[in-house]
This record gives sequence, structure tokens and C-alpha cells, in this order.
Amino acid sequence: MPNQDLGSFRARCRARVEAALDHWLPPAGIHPTRLHEAMRYAALGSGKRIRPTLVYATAEAIGLAPEDLDGAACAVELIHAYSLIHDDLPAMDDDDLRRGRPTCHRAFDEATAILAGDALQTLAFQVLASDEALPGGPAARVGMIETLARAAGSRGMAGGQALDLAAEGGEIDLAMLENIHIHKTGALIRGGVRMATQASPGLARPLAEGLDRYAKCLGLAFQIRDDILDVEGDPVLLGKTGGKDQAQEKATYPALMGLSAAREAAGSLIDQALASLAPLDGRADPLRWIAAYMVKRDR
Ligand code: IPE
Ligand code: IPE
Ligand code: MG
Ligand code: MG
Ligand code: MG
Repeated sequence: MPNQDLGSFRARCRARVEAALDHWLPPAGIHPTRLHEAMRYAALGSGKRIRPTLVYATAEAIGLAPEDLDGAACAVELIHAYSLIHDDLPAMDDDDLRRGRPTCHRAFDEATAILAGDALQTLAFQVLASDEALPGGPAARVGMIETLARAAGSRGMAGGQALDLAAEGGEIDLAMLENIHIHKTGALIRGGVRMATQASPGLARPLAEGLDRYAKCLGLAFQIRDDILDVEGDPVLLGKTGGKDQAQEKATYPALMGLSAAREAAGSLIDQALASLAPLDGRADPLRWIAAYMVKRDR
């Protein structure tokens, strides 16, 4: 039962990364307490931990142990948590609900939320720079830092967020929309997988390239599914307010091509993602399960 297997794989990954997050996040009781509380509030909520799970699944596919990649898994989730705090701010998507509870700026205040995002972002790089368990030596470590920085920056997630905001209320074509999604969401997903391959400097190039293609397709499919769920998902399961994209005239796949074509687009990206894994053996099965889950997920 692949789903059974995916369920237990995901549970193990979630437990690992949540322990790592708890370890690296400053205790809430340490000054400045309000900032540390906000950081923990945003990072330790009920997230799906998809990006860390992909890091661990890539590790498994290439023969690394999960404990080798706890730092990378933690770092990518810290960047993600920061991106969600800022994404929800009034100046961006102006959302009140995230992971079934008030968004960070609602639970605390805007200034604290901005600073919590800033501090989560720098903590991600602190983890990569100082985690002693990261394998591959100094060059691999620097490579991972560079990968995450590029994935999060103006030519990655932050750049995609800028394009997303600029596209609100306007007319865009499919190529522009794909570009937004590949950057705002795809870059971090792809960066997580790439960090895992960088931890194994001897990895054969065609395998690393196949994994990179897998992650690129998966990242885009993930955001298409997010767009679809905003239209037809159950807000209770999602833990966020539904129908926001249409209300804010966001550029989304369902808005551009309709729900059923959006579903088809996500499905064909998953087929491409799976095809990219063809040279890998059964140890890549968690990556295959995650791909199948991407287009079926309801939260
Ligand atoms: C939400 O990401 C934002 C997007 C990039 C689509 P997730 O759907 O991974 O959110 P959590 O971490 O599970 O809350
Ligand atoms: C978010 O995309 C992308 C990020 C970089 C956070 P959305 O704005 O669609 O994510 P949700 O729907 O608020 O989770
Ligand atoms: Mg957004
Ligand atoms: Mg949003
Ligand atoms: Mg969305």
C-alpha cells in the first residue's frame, strides 16, 4: 500500500525536522521573548513539512542517511516559514488564517511578524553554516548555502513573490504565470532537493540532473495544486481562508485556464517528474509517492 508507506515515511520526516526546528529555534523564554515566541509560533505550527520530506526522500534515493540531512531539511523549512509570514502580511496577501490559526501578524503584530520572518531567514543560513552533521566537506556546505540563498532570493522565491504581486489584477499569459509559480514556490522545492544532492559530491551527474528535473516539475505542480485548492478545497482542512486568489485577482492556473485544464497541467507535470526518476532504483520510491500525493493532496 504505497499510501500507507508514504504516511509512515512522512510521519518519520515530520518528527525529524520538527525535532531539528525545536533544537535550532531559540527558546521562547530567552530575550527578546516576543520575537522568539513569534518565530516558534510560525515555524512549529501544523505544516505539512513537504520541503523537508523531499530533502529526506532525496537523501534516501541517493544512499544518504536521514541524520546527514537534518540541517538542510531544517534550513529549507525555516525559509519556508519565513516566506509564509511575509506572504500573509497586509502589504502582500493580507491573510488572517494560516495552518488553522491566526497568521503571525494577527497573533502578534506586524512589526514582530516582519522581524520573525527576518530572523527565521538568517537562522536557516546559521544552521547550514554550523550544523556539524552535514556531510560532504566544506565545499559541499558552501554549495548548499549558495543553493538556498539563490532559491530564496530575488531570482528565486522573493523574486517570484514580487512578480506575483505585480501580476495582481492584470492580464498575463501562461508563460508569465509559469514563471511566477516556478519562482515563488518552485525555487525552494528545487533548492531543497539540490541541497540533498550536493551533500553527496560523488553523485553521478545524470542522477543529479534527473533529480533536479523531478524537483522542477514537482514545484510547479505543487503551486498549481495550491491554486486549485484555493478554489475548491475545504478551508478547514487547508487551515487558510478559501477563495482568496479570485478575490485578490491573483494570477493562477484555474483563473487562466479553468479547473479541469489546471488539473491536467498538474497531472502531466507529475508524469514528467516520475519519468525523470526512471534511472533510480526502489530507494527513490518515497520521491515517487510524494509526486503522486502532490496532485491528490487536499491540504
Ligand atoms: C503554502 O505552502 C505556500 C505555497 C508555497 C503554496 P505549504 O502548502 O507547503 O504550506 P504548509 O507548510 O503545509 O503550511
Ligand atoms: C505562496 O503562494 C508562495 C510563497 C512563497 C509563500 P500563495 O500566496 O498562493 O500561498 P498561500 O496560498 O498563501 O499558502
Ligand atoms: Mg502569495
Ligand atoms: Mg498567500
Ligand atoms: Mg495560494
